[in-house]
Amino acid sequence: MRVAVEYSPYDEQLNVDPYPLYARLRETAPVHHNEDLDIWALSRHADVDAALRDPAGFSSANGPLLDSAIWGPDAHKVMSFNAMDPPGHTRTRALVSAAFNPRRMAGLEPRIRDIVRGHLEAAVERGSFDFVTDVAATVPMDVISELIGVPAGDRAEARRLINLAFHRPPGARDLTPENAEAMGALAEYYVRWVGERRRTPGTDLLTTLAQASADGAPLTDQQIIALLGLLVTAGYETSLRLLGNAWYWAWRYPQQRALAFDGRSADWVEETLRYDTPVQYVVRTLTEDRTLHGVRLPRGARVLLLVAAANRDSEVFPDAERYDLDRDTHRAISFGGGPHFCLGAPLARIEGRIVLDELAARIGEYEIDQDRTVRVHTTNIRGFASLPTTIKLR
Ligand code: HEM
Repeated sequence: MRVAVEYSPYDEQLNVDPYPLYARLRETAPVHHNEDLDIWALSRHADVDAALRDPAGFSSANGPLLDSAIWGPDAHKVMSFNAMDPPGHTRTRALVSAAFNPRRMAGLEPRIRDIVRGHLEAAVERGSFDFVTDVAATVPMDVISELIGVPAGDRAEARRLINLAFHRPPGARDLTPENAEAMGALAEYYVRWVGERRRTPGTDLLTTLAQASADGAPLTDQQIIALLGLLVTAGYETSLRLLGNAWYWAWRYPQQRALAFDGRSADWVEETLRYDTPVQYVVRTLTEDRTLHGVRLPRGARVLLLVAAANRDSEVFPDAERYDLDRDTHRAISFGGGPHFCLGAPLARIEGRIVLDELAARIGEYEIDQDRTVRVHTTNIRGFASLPTTIKLR
């Protein structure tokens, strides 16, 4: 007798290891319907990839996340262009895309290295630290602050607020009042600085947005806040969890760690993104009835595109369940695809590589206390809240 496969993104058990269930979905239920939640899930690489590239059929207009507080036609007020379809998406994304071009990123590299070194020294000197809170959680927000133009003296406060904004207690299905309050405080801070940049322009992203216009009128404070909020929410937790996952899997597979520590940080980043990506799924709304693998999906269906399951599809990645720094990862869809392809991918890659390079340059060996590791409880994000680590220096 075949046991029906049941997938719910709220299942806490999935925090431990979702991949066996993803394999069953790909094999036996590539178009899965969770009737209680009335959500659908696609898990095969070909289907997820095609849906990402089809914004006319799989719309982002209700936003890419399930949380009810930010789901629906107003999602763009919080998530800006990530919750829009072309052509509005194209116009709005263009307001900030220049800040992420490869030339700007290369220019930022020395600053990122300074930020990384500043945070690593203290942790490494202690000999034991929490990789997540002491290392991974420090760098990404400071790098985003650097890009936006937040002065150095205010960055610790920005880190404090973003950590509160992302803290999810076990079982929480939606943003908590504390999350919303912290995001509000960060937004107020940004509004003050945009006002300042309108009076005294600089060379940062705050200035670009203070001077930008849409449809012939300057951007409103709310539009600017949504744009900055998107950069921070899309760029912070993702990068932080990527680093933790890289640290954890290299520890679990010592042969791969030897490669990782031998100058292969770029491959370490890419294979971690494929094998255990921080963003497990993105959500779309179907704009018309569709039939896929013989199953009819109705117009208006909420469809979860399981990028993490697609990245383990053996049709595309031979021996997909193996963590292997030597593999070809170019078809991984960890950064999405189509018009919403991650704007910050070049930044995430540079930042990940620099943090891991700098660690490998200092550390000879490390151990993680497996029993004290803690996972995060966010439904679409996979990674660690705590990775207690002891090191031996080179
Ligand atoms: C490891 C790190 C990261 C991962 C795994 C990641 C993943 C993703 C994914 C899967 C999407 C597609 C969302 C969708 O299709 O709806 C996305 C979009 C986006 N990401 Fe990232 N991201 C990372 C880092 C960053 C960083 C550092 C930034 C910027 C500071 C950033 C900014 C964005 C933005 C603005 C979008 C929306 C793009 C659009 O809707 O056109 N991301 N990211």
